[in-house]
Amino acid sequence: MCGIVGYIGTKKATPILVDGLLCLEYRGYDSAGIATLEKNEIKVMKDKGRVNNLYNLDGINTLEGTVGIAHTRWATHGKPSKENSHPHTDNSNTFAVVHNGIIENYLDLRTFLSSKGYTFFSQTDTEVIPNLIHYYFYNGSVSVLNDNKEKLLGAVKLAIQDLKGSYAIEVISPLCPNEIIVVRKDSPLVIGKGENENYIASDIPAILKYTKNFYLLDDNEFAVVSTNTISFFDNTLEEHNKTIKNIDWDANAAGKEGFDDYMLKEIFEQPTAIRETIGSRFSLGEKCSFDDIEISKEYLNNVNKIYIVACGTAMHAGLTGKTILENLCQIPTVVDIASEFRYRNPLIDEQTLCIYISQSGETADTIAALKLAKQKGAKTLAISNVIGSSITREADYSIYTHAGPEIAVASTKAYSSQVVLIAILAVYFAEILERCDKKIIERLKEDIIDLPSKVEKILDDTEIIKEFAKKVYTEKDMFFLGRGTDYNVALEGSLKLKEISYIHSEAYAAGELKHGPIALIENDVTVIGIITDSNLVEKSISNIQEVVTRGAKTLIITNQILPNSNFDFIINIPKTNFLISPILSVIPMQLIAYYIAKFKGLDVDKPRNLAKSVTVE
Ligand code: AGP
Repeated sequence: MCGIVGYIGTKKATPILVDGLLCLEYRGYDSAGIATLEKNEIKVMKDKGRVNNLYNLDGINTLEGTVGIAHTRWATHGKPSKENSHPHTDNSNTFAVVHNGIIENYLDLRTFLSSKGYTFFSQTDTEVIPNLIHYYFYNGSVSVLNDNKEKLLGAVKLAIQDLKGSYAIEVISPLCPNEIIVVRKDSPLVIGKGENENYIASDIPAILKYTKNFYLLDDNEFAVVSTNTISFFDNTLEEHNKTIKNIDWDANAAGKEGFDDYMLKEIFEQPTAIRETIGSRFSLGEKCSFDDIEISKEYLNNVNKIYIVACGTAMHAGLTGKTILENLCQIPTVVDIASEFRYRNPLIDEQTLCIYISQSGETADTIAALKLAKQKGAKTLAISNVIGSSITREADYSIYTHAGPEIAVASTKAYSSQVVLIAILAVYFAEILERCDKKIIERLKEDIIDLPSKVEKILDDTEIIKEFAKKVYTEKDMFFLGRGTDYNVALEGSLKLKEISYIHSEAYAAGELKHGPIALIENDVTVIGIITDSNLVEKSISNIQEVVTRGAKTLIITNQILPNSNFDFIINIPKTNFLISPILSVIPMQLIAYYIAKFKGLDVDKPRNLAKSVTVE
């Protein structure tokens, strides 16, 4: 998804901007560009393709400006091309803008501006913004003001009042050479405070190496950023103070640290990430507690339904969360895809607790689904990896996975940390509700604490996984089968494989196979089976036998002793409580997807068509 960087200070802006864009490459993009203020004029350098291509553009090395804005674009309106890349300027090249988000009414605005004599050179929705700013600067109520800074801020305000949709916007102009104006709605934007310089970014990692002090811009909030000051304004342009946040992420944690790819690094970080997620939230023999939330028995006793709402991998984490919550708390729990939930008119009220899971905390559908639940009177709880992210600011309660920055588009450590965190949340609720046998809870706690060392054990020997990947990487289709929580993790294994290896794959509840999908099984098709629930071993084996009989090649991921072994590959993983076994069984599947993609020579961290943070609908 699009990325934004901005710099204002005393150093040359270009290298800082390009470096920031490189840090944002993981979000997924197809074009890149920068604009700097050079001796009273805007210079724009942009093109489709990789950020590094910017260095090949004529004139880029002559840029001296110390104020600039930058963007990586992920095409929504108009194909990837130089014209459609950001920054965009108005017809007179007086205002340059970068924009994340989507302007839904851009065609109406184009028609309006065309009637006023403006011309458009791109197919983007964004190009209306600099032209609207120009229009209001010279024709709006602010045009009579003498101070250019006030005038520009006023013109930006009038322009965004016309916009329907989502935006994070940076604006520069030679008329205000000492300021960058920013504003956001439903798209993230942070401002990093430095010494005699300030930074702007859509994502913290882009500027983490320069500062750890951040202002997290709120929806409909404006900021005027200069070298030494940052001023904040509400949507009526009333100035207010804002609290700075210290973001305690290690800048190196956002680097590859010797791994070939971020994805591999993040897979191997899972033991640490899980330890961080557990943190001091519980120890054996003591009740679980959260620093960040306190929920009363009275409230929980009144909850008659839990909704878990999320997208993609986070939704898969939610599926396992449902099983754990229902087992421990006896509260019916529904898992929904955020983009479905928001248009389903879900049956929720004051007695519903809605849990939203999002690694980034910026997924547009998840945020919209959260807002909907609030309107209907439900309490909302956000689970995110990013402190201060949009969902955490909207929700009634927020808890963090603390997994550290996840850069690779394919989510790995976020998934395992999310499942761990929901398990801890379920334990917390169960201890309050007292509906579950204390011994069961205590045993689950022991199993949660043991998880990091068990993950390490799996990561210690990945040879059989590589060997399997080498055998199957040329295949066109694969199937993942499991029952119960093994089915939840089959869905995640299949998503990982699709995302980064582009191999078509399907996940089925093993018992459902004979109701149709088995027709797809033929000689030599690869089937991956997951068997970790002792109560379901026999059932799962008979389902997988059905595909063996039809000539399938099988890989089984299991923590059980299997009675027969006519399977082609078996990966043994440590035993744990079936409720949290997806945290262990997902590891081989992440590695299978990773090694298959590597054998195919694909860009693992930046798979085609995908974005890390999906901030549009
Ligand atoms: C995971 O590998 C995917 N890239 C994707 O499904 C992701 O989990 C989904 O877009 C949700 O993102 P979020 O957790 O940041 O909300």
